[in-house]
Amino acid sequence: MGKIILTGDRPTGRLHLGHYVGSLRRRVELQDSGLFEKIFIMIADAQALTDNADNPEKVRQNIIEVALDYMAAGLDPAKSVLFIQSQVSELTELTFFYQNLVTVQRLQRNPTVKQEIQLRGFSESADGADNKAGTPVGFFCYPISQAADITAFQATTVPVGEDQEPMLEQTREIVRKFNAVYGPTLVEPEILLPENSACLRLPGTDGKAKMSKSLGNCIYLSDPADVVWEKVRGMYTDPGHLQVSDPGKVEGNPVFTYLDAFSRPEHFERFADCFHGKKVSFDFRNLDEVKAQYRAGGLGDMMVKSFLNAVLNDVLEPMRVRRKALEQDLPYVYEVLRKGSEVARAAAAETLAAVKRSMKINYFDPGVLDELIAQQREKYRQ
Ligand code: TRP
Repeated sequence: MGKIILTGDRPTGRLHLGHYVGSLRRRVELQDSGLFEKIFIMIADAQALTDNADNPEKVRQNIIEVALDYMAAGLDPAKSVLFIQSQVSELTELTFFYQNLVTVQRLQRNPTVKQEIQLRGFSESADGADNKAGTPVGFFCYPISQAADITAFQATTVPVGEDQEPMLEQTREIVRKFNAVYGPTLVEPEILLPENSACLRLPGTDGKAKMSKSLGNCIYLSDPADVVWEKVRGMYTDPGHLQVSDPGKVEGNPVFTYLDAFSRPEHFERFADCFHGKKVSFDFRNLDEVKAQYRAGGLGDMMVKSFLNAVLNDVLEPMRVRRKALEQDLPYVYEVLRKGSEVARAAAAETLAAVKRSMKINYFDPGVLDELIAQQREKYRQ
């Protein structure tokens, strides 16, 4: 049996560097590795609606943004099925059946759900006294729907960021429970985390733990070069590094975390002359040398930021070029999603049929009805 990938993103905004190093870059490598029989990449609009129920236009507009970012980053519709979650209604049916296998208490313990409930200001009690809206049931249950997303495609491998670990754990529990109760039917998936620890959770440009749209600390894949430079120039560094001659801290300094995540050996030679505006030489053979000099003192933040800017643009420029071309051919992009959704639907329908068979709710499948009638006849024979 070949390996199958399923992964995706909520369409609530354009994708940023955190998405890229956390998952997107890896997906493109996996896609091009030829090691996978099928690759499904899902735009999770239904999941986005679990906490954006009153903002369908935002979700609708961001579907194309995410699709453009995907294809600009190198996801290729000839190799990967790009599709929209809401167009595969089989997923909601699976969710409904899996709900019977998960307890409210187990969902309440899911760390990602817990954290997101806090972050969004949903109160635990929906009594209105604290002016909070309460937690929407659909939102609370989204880990179950995510299990449906993954299992519907018999996915063996789910490349995602670290924050999705509790979702995968919950999915595996559902699979084990389902197979134990109804017989072997579903595939237990594995999470595939980024290898580089800098990529596990990319900090924001402000140094906060996570790059996140709601924190306003993102560099987007589609940001033009001058915007990227503005953001890099304004990045948080070591606040104790006041003078160029002062020793600086590399740990917890997002400029260095980004270099850990993005710089490649050849960048050091290629971008030895990189100072933004005026040419200054940045003479290092590798990142360890840069870090050592920064720690010792005598290396200014602007120098390091200029190098980082060159590195980031090396990664982003090919994406900008591809995105520009795709932006001029939107019917093609929507056609990719429409066709992808059809392919995804056919795959999910097969799993749903197997699930219904295992759950004995396939009354009208060929042959099943005759058998049922024969059984009942036996019961009612005088
Ligand atoms: N929860 C993911 C996110 O926040 C999106 C998602 C939905 C997903 N279903 C999935 C990811 C299944 C991987 C597998 O972006």
